[in-house]
Amino acid sequence: MLNKFSRYVCQNCGYETSQYFGRCMNCKEWNSIIEEEKSSVSKKNIIKKSKKSKLFTEITIQEISRIKTGFNEFDRVLGGGLVHGSIILLGGEPGIGKSTLVLQAAGKMSLSHNVLYITAEESLEQVKVRWTRLNQRNSNLKVFAENNLSIIIQEIKDTKPTIAIIDSIQAINNSDLESASGSVSQVRSCSSELQKFAKDNNIALLIIGHVTKDGTLAGPKTLEHLVDVVLNFEGDHIASHRLLRGIKNRFGATFELGIFEMLENGLNEIKNPSSNFTNKENIAGVATTITLEGTRSFAVDIQSLVNKTFFNNPKRATTGLNINRLHQIIAVIEKHIELKLYEFDCYVATAGGFEINDPSSDLCVAISIISSLINKNPIKDCAFIGELGLNGQVRKTNNIKSKVEECIRLGYKKMLIPQTNSEIVSKFKNISL
Ligand code: TYD
Ligand code: MG
Repeated sequence: MLNKFSRYVCQNCGYETSQYFGRCMNCKEWNSIIEEEKSSVSKKNIIKKSKKSKLFTEITIQEISRIKTGFNEFDRVLGGGLVHGSIILLGGEPGIGKSTLVLQAAGKMSLSHNVLYITAEESLEQVKVRWTRLNQRNSNLKVFAENNLSIIIQEIKDTKPTIAIIDSIQAINNSDLESASGSVSQVRSCSSELQKFAKDNNIALLIIGHVTKDGTLAGPKTLEHLVDVVLNFEGDHIASHRLLRGIKNRFGATFELGIFEMLENGLNEIKNPSSNFTNKENIAGVATTITLEGTRSFAVDIQSLVNKTFFNNPKRATTGLNINRLHQIIAVIEKHIELKLYEFDCYVATAGGFEINDPSSDLCVAISIISSLINKNPIKDCAFIGELGLNGQVRKTNNIKSKVEECIRLGYKKMLIPQTNSEIVSKFKNISL
């Protein structure tokens, strides 16, 4: 039995209703709801139960086989490589370098696998220009420029790739729907069809989606539950470093971080991040901490500028650090060291704007603020680690061992660590802790 029904979908957030409204009840956007017709076959009589529940002990698993992307940084974030038949969503701001990353990886993977790169945004010539710029030589990469969903699926059927790449999901369209490419319903419908086709044929599918911080391009966000892995490529357009973060991963941990830098011939892995985020200079207002990102520790400089204020409310600004964290650190300094920071503006930034989330950077922030305030250099050749408690105590840090090891590798002579981590002191001879 075939029946047609309508649904009303918000093009901003994807909210669905059975009735038209002038304003979306979910995201409060005006005139964003449009009618979509959908035909569906009543499945009541067709679906027959063919499966049985199983005991856990009866379930056998095959070892997950992974495809190396050619970038160690990329593989690590994926949990060791691309899993056969998995669906990956790579999000990031427009122009951040998603196509570049994927094209470089695709070129490398194509040497040992059948890879199809589908570009819906650029022409074949434009991709070739980028390719030449990337200095890639050998590859067996197949490229297909198209934005119609049915034609894309037909091409995937014909070429039978192990890995298919869609660049980008916002640029392709399903002609059965009336809405424009990039709308929430297009993005959802195209990705669910592609996902189904890829799963049925054991094709690894990498979908690129533009996502902005303010959420103005929200489409790909609504896909996160559909896919196995969600990665985010971030950085700012001025600094050259780019970070690849795992947000969701059915085949690995999500806390890993891949670090790249954008050069004129494409993306380069940063194997020794410390060298990019520290200058090792001893000046007032600059202190070094060791931050833990995923399984790696590396050094980052934190710089402060503390100036007498001319405002009623002193100014506080951060780059790479959470502003509330700065307010908290300032409050701790005022209360427990009795420095009158309320008379001063405080600007705090990490080297290159690198975003630090590790709370053990608190002590270093405090040291750099005080160092700028009194205009004296921090201890020379020293790194600072410790989370500041609200009561002024320096709290214990996790993974102190890997932080000390990184510090020794970088040639620091001293490290200020929390008293509660003192068990580590006897284990290291080459550094004064
Ligand atoms: P791109 O991969 O097109 O971004 P996205 O696919 O995320 O929209 O990257 C575009 C930017 O990267 C562009 O501003 C130019 C810069 N770029 C380089 O600096 N070096 C290069 O080798 C390439 C290919 C791009
Ligand atoms: Mg692109």
